[in-house]
Amino acid sequence: MNKKEFGKKGWTPERLESLSGKTYVITGANTGAGFEATKILLSKGAEVFMLNRNAKKSNKAIDDLKAQFGADAKVAFIKMDLAELSSVRNAAEEVIRTVPKIDALICNAAVAQVAKQAFTNDGFESQLGINHYGHFLLVNLLFDKVEETRGRVVVVGSQGYKMGLKTIQFEDMNFDKNYHPNNTYCHSKLAQIMFAYELQHRIKKANKDVKVYVCHPGASKTSLINKDTPLMTRITWSILSASPMVQSAEKGSYPEVMCATEDNLKQQAYYGPTGRMNWGGPVGACKLEPFALDREVAGKLWDVSEKETNCTWSF
Ligand SMILES: NC(=O)c1ccc[n+]([C@@H]2O[C@H](COP(=O)([O-])OP(=O)(O)OC[C@H]3O[C@@H](n4cnc5c(N)ncnc54)[C@H](OP(=O)(O)O)[C@@H]3O)[C@@H](O)[C@H]2O)c1
Repeated sequence: MNKKEFGKKGWTPERLESLSGKTYVITGANTGAGFEATKILLSKGAEVFMLNRNAKKSNKAIDDLKAQFGADAKVAFIKMDLAELSSVRNAAEEVIRTVPKIDALICNAAVAQVAKQAFTNDGFESQLGINHYGHFLLVNLLFDKVEETRGRVVVVGSQGYKMGLKTIQFEDMNFDKNYHPNNTYCHSKLAQIMFAYELQHRIKKANKDVKVYVCHPGASKTSLINKDTPLMTRITWSILSASPMVQSAEKGSYPEVMCATEDNLKQQAYYGPTGRMNWGGPVGACKLEPFALDREVAGKLWDVSEKETNCTWSF
């Protein structure tokens, strides 16, 4: 772990040079950290394709971005609902057809702390289904396109990965017996990052030229805690959000922008704010717990994810 990798202030967008000619695809970018990441990328001249579920919110986001960066700002929206695998497939097809190249695919979208057990269209517990299975399929379908550019995949995790069960609950992936808003969210975020580290291994073995980076936004003021989360969580979060302990959504976006753009980052690393509890502070490498790198669990998760999403990896 090297907290000082990017100097005292940690990584900030001041390090960015022009991103003109670069193309980024980001999920869940109409609000929160994804929206802020889009802003930073556009401000440096990049082209950004947002994969969002809500057309109205997305058009509003595009209007706001064009008001800020000019009518020529290169930002577009492709409809994708991660809670519906057929929608992920359609969106991936559209990306392959219409997006010129992908320098980084940023898996940012998520739902969190869903109060009551809910299911995606394909019958998966909603947090695992949206956060992990949806992105697992998306990365599978867009991998070749990312490889064409020798690009990268960025997975936005959460400190929650180490707060829940600390493993994958293969015997009850839908939490039929022990549903818990936070534990189940944490399970989905652990699944996301275990997939990312396993993908790094497989890429290396197959001699592919794609990098995979994992990050987290710390504690950031976004719309993640919303009407679908338990009342007590909303109350606690609103108190915390009013304190300096919780940082802005803009700062929360730095780790994912860094992972999408910075050269010479490490694999098997976990980037995010390095301050107290990793909630805020300078962005750099954070401690990664060894259970997230357990290859036996990750391999099993990979097999289950391929089966559930009906996709296969060629390597
Ligand atoms: N904020 C934090 O403190 C915090 C802490 C740890 C980790 N994170 C992670 O940071 C990332 C960004 O979250 P955020 O805090 O910026 O939350 P946010 O403001 O709620 O943004 C989440 C985005 O995901 C989208 N989304 C949700 N369900 C989707 C679906 N089924 N299909 C497609 N898109 C969907 C949302 O779209 P809608 O607007 O349509 O709902 C929204 O654009 C997430 O991966 C989250 O787990 C955040």
